[in-house]
Amino acid sequence: MLQRTPFDEAFLGVASYHLVPPIEPSDLAALDAARGEGPIFASTKIDARDDETANTLGQLGFRRICTQILLRVRLHGASRGVGDVRITERLDLDPVDVRAHAAQLDSGRFRQDPLIATDAAIALYAAWVRNSTRGAKRVASINRNFVSFEDRAGVRWIDLLSVLDKRAGIAVRLLDAIIEDARRSSREEVKVVTDGDNIAALHAYRIAGFEPERSLMIFHLLSARPGNRSDPTCANNS
Ligand SMILES: CC(C)(COP(=O)(O)OP(=O)(O)OC[C@H]1O[C@@H](n2cnc3c(N)ncnc32)[C@H](O)[C@@H]1OP(=O)(O)O)[C@@H](O)C(=O)NCCC(=O)NCCS
Repeated sequence: MLQRTPFDEAFLGVASYHLVPPIEPSDLAALDAARGEGPIFASTKIDARDDETANTLGQLGFRRICTQILLRVRLHGASRGVGDVRITERLDLDPVDVRAHAAQLDSGRFRQDPLIATDAAIALYAAWVRNSTRGAKRVASINRNFVSFEDRAGVRWIDLLSVLDKRAGIAVRLLDAIIEDARRSSREEVKVVTDGDNIAALHAYRIAGFEPERSLMIFHLLSARPGNRSDPTCANNS
């Protein structure tokens, strides 16, 4: 399925799309039609073992950006409790802290793409932080540090984990709290997708009991209007 992603468009400045696997010939035809209308950005996440789709994407001009890992923790056994963590419907962050959270998401796919300007990527992540903490998701927090999440079909999905006051065990306490809360709410699993080279996050998730389920390859396409070779968005990446 080819989905339009208006959220990305506000920051990338071109029509933006996400290809949702399984990628069918009709999706590629729709993407081709969109390319014919002007510059576009498109992204997709496929299973890391799917070489055939990776080759097809490469032939279409997609670039491999990074690897992400789907992690999960199954909700059985002992828990470490909620402790001093607040679980609320929203968290009001100072704008300076929103910007600091956004700026530190440097292993995210928009920061990893050399064709996307750093400023555009940080602005996109700041909007993501604001959305995630202002009602779109539930939030577990310790002061200005948070993990946002939502429950879908028995699974608690982590949207964003971000700690500014680092190396004090806060990430693990936040994760412990939402795991315990999910257990009490009769959820079956807690899942998250994180970047494969995000060592700090992988450490924190492992300590909280998460295990890898599978790996995903992330691809981006930034296409110029046919006949126009100028970069559609952001060649000024620093
Ligand atoms: C990843 C992150 C949430 C960790 O927060 P934190 O509160 O500093 O982590 P904790 O203090 O709970 O540490 C958990 C474990 O990870 C280890 N760790 C933390 N940061 C680390 C780093 N930069 N490098 C290596 N190990 C690290 C800690 O030592 C600890 O392990 P230990 O108990 O064996 O010592 C924080 O670095 C962050 O917000 N990063 C930017 C946002 C991000 O990448 N979020 C994840 C995307 S969903």
